[in-house]
Amino acid sequence: MRAFGLNYTSRQLELREMPEPELEAPTEVLLRIREVGVCGTDRELALFRLGFPPAGEDFLILGHEALAEVIACGNGVRDLKPGDWVVPMVRRPCRPPCPSCARGRRDLCLAPVSHERGICGLHGYLAGYAVDEEEDLVRVPASLVDYAVLIEPLSVVEKAVETALRVHEPGARRALVLGAGPIGILAALVLELRGLEVAVHSLEPADHPRAALLAEAGIAYRQRIEGPEADILIEATGSADVTFAGIEQLAPLGVAVLLGADDASGRFPFRKLIVGNRAVIGSVNAGPGAFAAAVEDLGRFDRRILERLIRRLPLEAAAQSILGPPEVAPKRVHVVAD
Ligand code: BGC
Ligand code: ZN
Repeated sequence: MRAFGLNYTSRQLELREMPEPELEAPTEVLLRIREVGVCGTDRELALFRLGFPPAGEDFLILGHEALAEVIACGNGVRDLKPGDWVVPMVRRPCRPPCPSCARGRRDLCLAPVSHERGICGLHGYLAGYAVDEEEDLVRVPASLVDYAVLIEPLSVVEKAVETALRVHEPGARRALVLGAGPIGILAALVLELRGLEVAVHSLEPADHPRAALLAEAGIAYRQRIEGPEADILIEATGSADVTFAGIEQLAPLGVAVLLGADDASGRFPFRKLIVGNRAVIGSVNAGPGAFAAAVEDLGRFDRRILERLIRRLPLEAAAQSILGPPEVAPKRVHVVAD
């Protein structure tokens, strides 16, 4: 099968032939990969700032945002059958399980290093086929297949929004999202669905198609961090400066969840946090509950908006979409099989 990934010897991205994986345990499922989205994490991987290949190998198949079709099931597989559509979770529970993994929250894993498909120590999905345990797969209704490649990034957003609303005292009304990439736009859509008044702040000019896309979804777009203070803040920029500015914009009782900001030194407003009972929280990855919420919400979003989030490209174009400049459509998706 064709597989796209990172060669740790030549330090290059590479499309190569690899043997197809086979079922080895009764609880395993063989998948034919249909589509894989790429994101900033793939860029970090390609720049060797993150991740590592499977033990004893010098190649990592990239791709962790996958949509796949079930091709075959081991005889211990209970709920999936050939023809079903699935999205794999990214992280694998640690073994023996830490307390978080033991209670089904792999996203809160306490092991020093978590294994994540296409990122840390396990091959990803930019390849013809993959094998997974049934417990690592999330079934997707056939009606959502056209947009289901968004479920993995949406699961990360669902976890962040759930955390923010759980920590906030009742009555959160206004949300500010930092960043108009796929995570920022999906966060804005989820917050709007939860009944909040949402604004997105990002650097794109006011007449940029992403601003128009947000406007069509009823979401305000601002190039400057201004306007009323926010009860909920979701950070999806990678920029420390923007994050500092966003935290200054938190209302009393406000909760900020950070998803992408880089390390930085700067003025951190401890007093403002304390005096206003504000919270700043980091969040990574997503567990089964967040994936279930993502499947549910995907079915509630306006399909015309979802359509404009995605640009589909062939597998051969993966290097360009991982390392190239951003495009108008926020999410680049590689079609592995039709
Ligand atoms: C993925 C997460 C993962 C994180 C860090 C993100 O792009 O969506 O599942 O935990 O990268 O590796
Ligand atoms: Zn990702």
